[in-house]
Amino acid sequence: MPPPAASTVGTRIPGDQPAARALEQRSLDVARAAIDGCRACDLWARATQGVFGKGRRSARLMLVGEQPGDQEDLAGEPFVGPAGRLLDGALAEAGIDREQAFVTNVVKHFKWRASGKRRLHDRPNREQVRACRPWLDLEVELVRPEVLVLLGATAAQALLGTSFRVTVHHGRLIEPETPSGPLRMATLHPSAILRARTPEARDEMRRMLVGDLAAAAQAATSPRGPVPRAGPDDRR
Ligand code: URA
Repeated sequence: MPPPAASTVGTRIPGDQPAARALEQRSLDVARAAIDGCRACDLWARATQGVFGKGRRSARLMLVGEQPGDQEDLAGEPFVGPAGRLLDGALAEAGIDREQAFVTNVVKHFKWRASGKRRLHDRPNREQVRACRPWLDLEVELVRPEVLVLLGATAAQALLGTSFRVTVHHGRLIEPETPSGPLRMATLHPSAILRARTPEARDEMRRMLVGDLAAAAQAATSPRGPVPRAGPDDRR
């Protein structure tokens, strides 16, 4: 018989996961320390370290990317490389203070393939995304944001289903999965904007991202009735 899920409403964290221990202690710090020891998939073997989310425990907005990139893998923090710089600019333009948000990824270890001396991003597969899910569920459970912003197809499809198309459905607010859960919204991944073929396309995509972020921020601050919050503010 599988071990029971750690007892918290709305979470799917199986009792045998390291994430379940962090949930029992309701601690992001415990989770951050445990993520390096995660062997739920094979990605740990080639990564420098696990990269846990960063931000305010009291954040109303949680931004969820795909996986750490080369620079994030080395720094141990999400979105600190080129995609992070684009995200920072878009957040500022949307009137969002990154320091007030919580930024993370669906997969916590960097998946890469070699190209000469460079480590190039390699998209995580469905099994790797599934194996990492308890960590994201834990972050959502402890932070309890009002809105989850899913950056790009990997995050959107992990949380909203494989038929979700970011280019078509971006910017729509999607009802929470459970009454106390966050609203969801998907938008473009900053890396997709960096890869745009023309400056015009890049500007257009960036405008989309900024508009979606602004709408998400507005939804995150609109009253939706009381949402239970846990624990002290342990900003990282
Ligand atoms: N891309 C992501 O999805 N996440 C990061 O942290 C960096 C780049």
